[in-house]
Amino acid sequence: MSKPRVFVTRAIPDVGLTIITDACDADVWSEDLPPSRGILLERIKGKVGILSLVTDKIDGEVMDSAGDQLKIISNYAVGVDNIDIQEATNRGILVGNTPGILTETTADLTFALLLSAARRIGEGIDYIRGNKWETFKPMELLGRDVHNSTLGIIGMGRIGIEVARRAKGFTMDVIYYDYRGRGELGEAVNAKMCTTIDELFQKADFISLHIPLTVETKHLIDDAAFANMKDTAILINASRGPVVDSDALYDALKSKKIAYAALDVTDPEPIPFSHKLLSLPNCLIVPHVGSATIETRTKMAVMAAENLLKGIRGELPKHIVNPEALKNRD
Ligand code: GLV
Repeated sequence: MSKPRVFVTRAIPDVGLTIITDACDADVWSEDLPPSRGILLERIKGKVGILSLVTDKIDGEVMDSAGDQLKIISNYAVGVDNIDIQEATNRGILVGNTPGILTETTADLTFALLLSAARRIGEGIDYIRGNKWETFKPMELLGRDVHNSTLGIIGMGRIGIEVARRAKGFTMDVIYYDYRGRGELGEAVNAKMCTTIDELFQKADFISLHIPLTVETKHLIDDAAFANMKDTAILINASRGPVVDSDALYDALKSKKIAYAALDVTDPEPIPFSHKLLSLPNCLIVPHVGSATIETRTKMAVMAAENLLKGIRGELPKHIVNPEALKNRD
């Protein structure tokens, strides 16, 4: 019997890839850079499943190019904003993701960004590499205290909660605002809910974003939001780049309306080398590495592979964002 045909848009850790290649006739795009749109549209043809990355835009056109036999899009990520979920659901195509396993790893990275911004670690490294360290200077590279400060978390989901837990170890006061009204979630970590997002902007020393990118959250952090923040505020974004309006962020950092930003994600992504944000000393950027540990990327590979296999066998994988799609399948 012939094996099911799948397209894997990038080489993932072997332990997951082997699960797929053992069970499927797998077309694996193993280049360093993602397949171009044209290649994606071509290689998806006739496939029953696709394992995609956040860099692959999977919309109705891609699904149509695949054909009616496409049963599952298994995303190697927890975020699925690269996929048109509604289009997938309409066609009876399941969309899988990798929740839970990257929660703590992303919270760790968030904290690394927070500490690095507060203590200006990136600037310190540049200082030494630029041969500027002449002596101990009382007024050089002064940052801000993290301990006893106030952390404002926007989005008290799995990652937000883990960030709050870490903050408690630094005796921070944690306040939060949750779009989905999940007030009870903060109680477990002794965080106080703000009734409005502006209240959070006004009170927080550090603001950390942990919300998915949706129509409602795009450019949530805009000029008006910055206007409400403290001049000493430090913004951390380890969610999705477009949640922050990049032009407004540039203006806020340049004019010192806020003190600092530390970003794991940008808009656009990757951020072009000539982008104006890269000219600012008070903006620290790392290249979307929130889940990038050996342990977590390995677990993600296994979970995404298992989602893919279950989906192509017509079973309901454990981690599916649109189980209702099954109703639309013939
Ligand atoms: C990474 O950004 C993810 O959504 O897993």
